[in-house]
Amino acid sequence: MSRPSVVRNGEEVTHVGLLVGQSPVMQELRSQIARIGRTGFTVLVEGESGAGKELVAREIHERSRRSRGPFVAVNCAALVETLLEAELFGIEERTATGVRGRRGKFEQADGGTLFLDEVGDLSATAQAKLLRVLQDLTVERVGGSETRTVDTRVIAATNRALPEMVRRGTFRADLYYRLSGVDVVVPPLRKRRGDIPALVTHFLHRYGYSATVVVAPAALDALIGYDWPGNVRQLGRIIERALALSSTTTLSVRDLPREIGRWPLMEETGADALDLTLRAWSSRYVRLVLDRCRGNKKRACDTLDISYHTLQSLLEFASPAPAMAAGAEALLHAEIPRPARVGTAAGSALACLDQSAGE
Ligand SMILES: Nc1ncnc2c1ncn2[C@@H]1O[C@H](COP(=O)(O)OP(=O)(O)OP(=O)(O)O)[C@@H](O)[C@H]1O
Ligand SMILES: [Mg+2]
Repeated sequence: MSRPSVVRNGEEVTHVGLLVGQSPVMQELRSQIARIGRTGFTVLVEGESGAGKELVAREIHERSRRSRGPFVAVNCAALVETLLEAELFGIEERTATGVRGRRGKFEQADGGTLFLDEVGDLSATAQAKLLRVLQDLTVERVGGSETRTVDTRVIAATNRALPEMVRRGTFRADLYYRLSGVDVVVPPLRKRRGDIPALVTHFLHRYGYSATVVVAPAALDALIGYDWPGNVRQLGRIIERALALSSTTTLSVRDLPREIGRWPLMEETGADALDLTLRAWSSRYVRLVLDRCRGNKKRACDTLDISYHTLQSLLEFASPAPAMAAGAEALLHAEIPRPARVGTAAGSALACLDQSAGE
């Protein structure tokens, strides 16, 4: 079931068939990918940096009738305007002194898929040319006048708000509508925290440590509680860093960068002022889960794997420092530090949190 992977700039960029994550939003994404793969439509993949847009594009390609054809990826932000056009559309022999003619990525991806990453960075000329290819399925090389027919499916990606660029006049409206007919949104990692344990296992495996290294429950809690502005790519790098720093076979909070390992609840309110008993934590956590289950006590009991009686008694528990408890409640809602180990009950609580985040 494992398929070949491709390494670019030292990072593994393909691991087709291994889009990790079983959270509700990821399951929805998977079924969307399966549906879209069967069509030949142009697709726009949107999502924050490092969320997995290229991986999603590769999965769509794998599930399409083009899967035996090439998957060619171009990062539109990485090349200056003049080079980008030649890269995409090709260049005719002797356009300038010493220039050798070559095929562009559109031609290279003939019969397969062309992935245009950071499509919002295309110049006005490149946008006009791209629109023409999408409409006519023909390309014209730079410096040439002849058109060549191509059978290339385009999957574009962006982490910028294209509608806003259209309003400002920096992105063509007609191209935007052409690209965004089929729109796939890759959710940020903080909206699917329940996937983090599986992703951690995935990265340990990818780096060859799955049989020798384990992650301490407190470190896993810290990883789950962090907001991940750099998404899955950042998580991979943090695991890599922790593996490099750790001197034992257990990755602990000490092996994580400070902003991930810190406990915001304590820092903000002062540990002395808080009731740090397990019962007080359980009470806060139960309130949080109940809130995320929209006040549905039965669902909260199922999620937490506790009885109705236990739920009631934890809800009735009053912290001896009410003023601090109110602050703590606000922080719990903001950062979600986990009070306990990620066991079965907490695991299903995470699923509940993911569900509400997606709602
Ligand atoms: N669901 C996932 N399962 C396993 N690995 C993932 C997942 N999502 C992302 N990754 C990994 O995270 C890294 C970043 O993913 P990818 O390059 O697809 O993100 P991106 O959204 O295209 O990022 P950028 O906006 O920076 O171009 C890659 O190494 C990829 O393999
Ligand atoms: Mg990308």
